[in-house]
Amino acid sequence: MKNKALLIVWGLLGLVVATMLRADPDPTAMLPLAANGLAAAPPMGWNSWNKFACGVNEQVVRAAVDAMVDSGMQDVGYRYVVIDDCWQGMRAPDGAIEADPDRFPRGIKALADYVHSKGLLLGIYSDAGSQSCAGRAGSRGHEFQDAQRFAAWGIDYLKYDWCHTGSQDAPSSYRTMALALRATGRPILFSACEWGQARPWLWAADNGVNLWRVGPDIMDRWSGRGDYQLGVLDIVDLAEPRHAAAGPGHWNDPDMLEVGNGGMTEVEYRSHFSLWAEMAAPLIAGNDLAHMTPTTRVLLTNREVIAIDQDRLGAQGHRVARQGDGEVWSKPLADGGRAVLLFNRGDRATTITARWTDLGYPAHVTATLRDVWNGKDLPAVSGAFSADVEAHGVVMVTVTP
Ligand code: GLA
Repeated sequence: MKNKALLIVWGLLGLVVATMLRADPDPTAMLPLAANGLAAAPPMGWNSWNKFACGVNEQVVRAAVDAMVDSGMQDVGYRYVVIDDCWQGMRAPDGAIEADPDRFPRGIKALADYVHSKGLLLGIYSDAGSQSCAGRAGSRGHEFQDAQRFAAWGIDYLKYDWCHTGSQDAPSSYRTMALALRATGRPILFSACEWGQARPWLWAADNGVNLWRVGPDIMDRWSGRGDYQLGVLDIVDLAEPRHAAAGPGHWNDPDMLEVGNGGMTEVEYRSHFSLWAEMAAPLIAGNDLAHMTPTTRVLLTNREVIAIDQDRLGAQGHRVARQGDGEVWSKPLADGGRAVLLFNRGDRATTITARWTDLGYPAHVTATLRDVWNGKDLPAVSGAFSADVEAHGVVMVTVTP
C-alpha cells in the first residue's frame, strides 16, 4: 500500500517536471532581434515579377533602372529595383549560388554597380526552402553563404519566399536569414513573402523582417480569386485588419502594385494606388517602367499621395465607417491630421460622408481640407465632409483641425 502511494507521488512529480521542461523552451531563442534601422517609411521601388515573371534578365532590369530615373520616379522617392525569381543559375561545387549566365551574362555585381551609379538600390530574391517557387535553387542550408554572396555583390534588399519549405518553422526560418544578413555587416532590407500563412504580423518584426506579405499574390483584377491569386479588393480585405502591426521599420505588405499592367481601368488603378498609400504599404511598382503610358506615370508619381504613404508617423490607415458600398478610411498623420479615403467599392456612383467623430475628432472642430489627388485646398468645414464618388473610385482628402 505504502509502495503504491510512493509510486503515485513519484509519478506525479515526474509529470510536473516534464510539463515544466516542455513549457520552458530556451528563453534566449525568442528574444526579439533589435531593428536593423531600415524601412523607416514603407519601401518604394520596382519588382520584376508582376510584369515579367520568369522572363527577367539583365536588359529588363537595366531598362527599369533607366526608366526609374528618366520618368521622375526616383525624384519622388522610388529607390529599390528588385529582381524577383528566375535570376538564379546553379550552385558551384562549394555551394556558392551563381546567376543564370544566359540571363545575367555580366553577373549581379556589375548590375549592382550600375544601379548604384544611378543613386538607386538593388534587391534580389531567394526562398527559405530547398527550391524557389519557380524551381530554382532555394537558400535552405545555405543561408549564411548566400547572405555573404548577396552582400559581396552589393545587394540592398532581399525578398525571401516560402515555397518548398515542407515542415520548416516560419519564424525561425526567417530569423535565420535575418541573422545571416546581419552577419554580413551590410544594411540589407528584409522582405518576407510567406503569404500570411503563419500570421507573420505577430512575429516577423521581432525576427528581423521589415515587411511581410499578408496574403497570396495579387492579380491585375479589381476583385476575384485565381489559383493562388487575389484581386485588389480581396487583398485589401486581408490587409486592413492587420493595421495595428504596421509602423516604422515593419510593414504589412499587400503585394506589389499592378498599376499600368492593363487589367484594370484608370479609376481602378487610382483606387488601388490610393488604398496602398492609405495602408502605408510598400509602393513597389510592378509594371514595365520603360514602356508605361503618361497616365500610368502621372499616377505612380503623385507626390501628395506618396507623402501620405510615407508619412513619418507610420500609421496604417483603416476602415472607420461603412455606408452601403461606400467606405470611409482614416490614416492618422504626424501633423495630427488624417488622410481620409472615401472609397466606393460598388458599381454605381454614391455619396460618402466622413464624420469627424469617426476620425477621432469632436464634431464642432473646424478642419482645413485638401483634395490630395488634385493638389487643391477645399473650404474648411466642421462636423463632416461629403463627396460624390464614382464607381470603383476614391476621393482622397487630408483633414487637419
Ligand atoms: C511567389 C511569390 C511571388 C513571386 C513568385 C516567384 O508566388 O508570392 O511574389 O515572387 O513566387 O516565383
